[in-house]
Amino acid sequence: MAVVVIVGAQWGDEGKGKFIDYLASEADVVVRGQGGNNAGHTVVVGDKKYALHLIPSGILYENTANVLGNGIVFDPRGFFEEYDALQREGVQVDQIKVSQRAHVVFPYHRELDALSEEKKGASKIGTTKKGIGPCYMDKVERTGIRVGDMLEEADFAVKLRAQVERKNHIAKALYGVEPFDFEAIFSEYKAYAERLKPMTCDTVAYLNDQYEDGKNILLEGAQGTLLDIDLGTYPFVTSSHPTAGGFTVGTGLAATRIDEVLGITKAYTTRVGAGPFVTEQDNEIGDRIRTQGNEFGVTTGRPRRCGWLDLVIVRHAVRVNGLTAIALSLLDVLSGFDEIKLCRAYRIDGKETLDFPADLKELAKAEPVYETFTGWQEDITGCTKYEDLPENAKRYISFIEEFLGVPAAFISVGPKRSQTIIRQKLF
Ligand code: GDP
Ligand code: IMO
Ligand code: MG
Repeated sequence: MAVVVIVGAQWGDEGKGKFIDYLASEADVVVRGQGGNNAGHTVVVGDKKYALHLIPSGILYENTANVLGNGIVFDPRGFFEEYDALQREGVQVDQIKVSQRAHVVFPYHRELDALSEEKKGASKIGTTKKGIGPCYMDKVERTGIRVGDMLEEADFAVKLRAQVERKNHIAKALYGVEPFDFEAIFSEYKAYAERLKPMTCDTVAYLNDQYEDGKNILLEGAQGTLLDIDLGTYPFVTSSHPTAGGFTVGTGLAATRIDEVLGITKAYTTRVGAGPFVTEQDNEIGDRIRTQGNEFGVTTGRPRRCGWLDLVIVRHAVRVNGLTAIALSLLDVLSGFDEIKLCRAYRIDGKETLDFPADLKELAKAEPVYETFTGWQEDITGCTKYEDLPENAKRYISFIEEFLGVPAAFISVGPKRSQTIIRQKLF
């Protein structure tokens, strides 16, 4: 038995969905512990491609329980759209459990997210506009409405009415927009509550029972380390903790119950939305990575910003998550480059540093110190063993492992389950 955490080691979209699906074949339970449907996780099975947002990426295995833990923010509209679409495709969805403690995303959260971004103009964060930040704001303010609150109609009406009134003051004063309609929201959400009731439970008790029964539990990170509200590039971050520590509070499984932390690491770097990006290649190199890697957002369709692998970032991820291994993903995208660069330090005010700066003004001064590798021309998408990889690819991987001091337990050479080189078992 084991408890394994999967986190993104960069700015999200590292290929977590592929690895969660891959490892879910050996897991009894897959759990989301933070974020909401701002996530977009791609799972490819045969010729079929699934884009998962709120539903855990273990859903394609019938015997795996899928849990939405207490730390997530739950948008019932998005959830049921996803649920119904999966069901229409013949996927079994009745093994989902939703925490009574999770906070609920309402239409006013989505709207206020979009309005706030609009008002910020050039300094906007570039959020997914799914209402994630405004929902977590209510949680921290201690005025939020939780899944459990939705299930008691009279109580729910009182709480929702109070919230709609508060949001209408904000909507009018800050943005001058039409008020939100309590009746419309209440009737829509009452219907969701009816459907949701049988799926809800105390997931903290459930998960700890599973742990004590010796089950394999996979904790599914969304977003990535650099999007963590404390440890990332604040304010260009999300509103949760997509790092290993976020899972202890986000699921109720204590830190001492976690065995392995796997950091999914792209063989290069991408980011969607605004904020600093030291190794960004806003040129033909970035365009080529975007085209070869099909780097467009799963949730918003936005083109992703692309650049060389930044090991200062990944080293930060190794430290703050306590990564026990990495999975190096999308290595095939680098095939065909004559030269591949990798950032092994930042130079700030003429001094080299390995530490990721806490201050964005400091980060803005950082110049990448590159190590240059000769590329490989071979198509590696069919490689199933480490030995099959070209020597130049192995040199690139070895440098990364030595620099980080953790092994690349998996190497991914394509989006399919079969396109994975396995060097270590986690369960
Ligand atoms: P996530 O948010 O971390 O789950 O990642 P996304 O699904 O947003 O983005 C990763 C993209 O890369 C998806 O389109 C995956 O199908 C794809 N992908 C994952 N691993 C590989 C790989 O090794 N090679 C290639 N070419 N594509 C991959
Ligand atoms: P997955 O799980 C990449 C980014 C947004 C924006 C910032 C804040 O697919 O890796 P939010 O809507 O969360 O308030 O937006 O965070 N962001 C992601 N970027 N992958 C994601 O998820 C992301 N979820 C949020 O683009 O910059
Ligand atoms: Mg994604």
